Amino acid sequence: RIAGPSSLVIFGVTGDLAKKKLLPAVYDLANRGLLPASFGLIGFGRRDWSDQQFVAFAEENVRAHCRTPFNESTWRHLSQGMRFVKGSFDDAEAFRRLSATVSELDRVRGTRGNHAFYMSVPPKAFPQVARQLAESGLSHSKEGAWRRVIIEKPFGHDLASAKELDRVVSEVFEPDSVFRIDHYLGKETVQNILALRFANMMFEPVWNSNYVSHVQITMAEDMGIGGRAGYYDGIGAARDVIQNHLLQLMALTAMEEPVSFSASDLTAEKTKILSAVRIPKDLAAHTARGQYTAGWQGSQHVVGYLDEDGIDPSSTTETYAAIRLDVDTRRWAGVPFYLRTGKRLGKRVSEIAIVFKRAPHLPFEATATRELGANAVVIRVQPDEGVTMRFGAKTPGSAMEVRDVNMDFSYGRSFTEASPEAYERLILDVLLGDPPLFPTTEEVNLSWKILDPIEEFWAGQGQPQPYRAGTWGPREADLMLARDGYHWRMP
Ligand code: BG6
Repeated sequence: RIAGPSSLVIFGVTGDLAKKKLLPAVYDLANRGLLPASFGLIGFGRRDWSDQQFVAFAEENVRAHCRTPFNESTWRHLSQGMRFVKGSFDDAEAFRRLSATVSELDRVRGTRGNHAFYMSVPPKAFPQVARQLAESGLSHSKEGAWRRVIIEKPFGHDLASAKELDRVVSEVFEPDSVFRIDHYLGKETVQNILALRFANMMFEPVWNSNYVSHVQITMAEDMGIGGRAGYYDGIGAARDVIQNHLLQLMALTAMEEPVSFSASDLTAEKTKILSAVRIPKDLAAHTARGQYTAGWQGSQHVVGYLDEDGIDPSSTTETYAAIRLDVDTRRWAGVPFYLRTGKRLGKRVSEIAIVFKRAPHLPFEATATRELGANAVVIRVQPDEGVTMRFGAKTPGSAMEVRDVNMDFSYGRSFTEASPEAYERLILDVLLGDPPLFPTTEEVNLSWKILDPIEEFWAGQGQPQPYRAGTWGPREADLMLARDGYHWRMP
């Protein structure tokens, strides 16, 4: 699948996301031969740059972050189709220049009127950019060509603002021209959830409340907030990643088999799950939030959240969040889904653990099964991509003793090709007009509906519990699981 003639316009091209992910992803796509020779790339920003200066900036970031080796000839060709348009979002003249640049690429590069606009900008800028695209005529495609818009999360900060955002965007773009990015859906291991479940016979029969005791979905990060204080403070861990990445992981883990992998069939199943989610009545007992304090990450001493640059020293923003959710369906009745995420935790790891019930009877002496835990299937999303099955095996020797062992599938060992970066896959899909890996408005709204009451409850709770950087979160989170008779897995 190779994209057709087209260009990508990036708003916010000097930001962190563009530097670390978007520009390298475009280069890697070109290097893998997945972009057409006629591809164009336009950066839009306030810097007073020439096209050459933009190319130099892009090259530096591509070299630092690309996945495939740096290839001079790929770069030479790609950079010949690169342009920079200087301007701010309130400057109509700049959008006219952008329009002229897009037309120039159509002529000299052969992009044929097909253009995607990537909003790598804060949500408060979306309405303005969308309006300017409409007024400059950029959002209207000519016959036989397409215009698409890519929206980076967060899609609002609650249900009401998400709906408002949607209203603004839908005034300018047709629904099927809007691509909302949840980059977790672009990860190979996340797509593998459906392969694991629906391409095999051995998992699905036990993937239900008869056998599963609970599910733990973890997204742990060792890094702090980096240079993103302006974005993060006031948003917090739950809005940043539970509302999107973790609820998407939960929907894929819990949903029924889709009729096909088309966007409409996938979203039909995901929305059923998101609609069936029940939040706990006692939010104090079944949620936890924390904020990191100074500590050690490996051998490095790191400051606490309130001492990070740009953070209000009295901030009540959580950097750790854990919640219990239930799914009111026959398949999942009585099976809690625990979602947790945090910054400055013990290590960077994202995984989904399906934890099974204990065997109803163990024909061993109690002492022989001391080291036997519950069986589990663990989908290792990152960084060590793969799947682990955890079960009991007899220890060698004359005694009949059983203890937990792991059986591993690892992407690195089983496949020689390296997985593409999530943004590569997603940008390619936008250029191809292929929507299954993008959450729909309905999914986004349902996710806010789940989170809104929890955020409202937390807003009245004052300061989150402190946890030391480099540890696994606040004590409250451990108690939350202990109350239900479980404990968090140590990934
Ligand atoms: C982003 C969040 O969506 O995901 C960041 O805004 C987070 O706070 C990032 O660090 C993590 O992505 P990944 O792919 O490294 O797990």
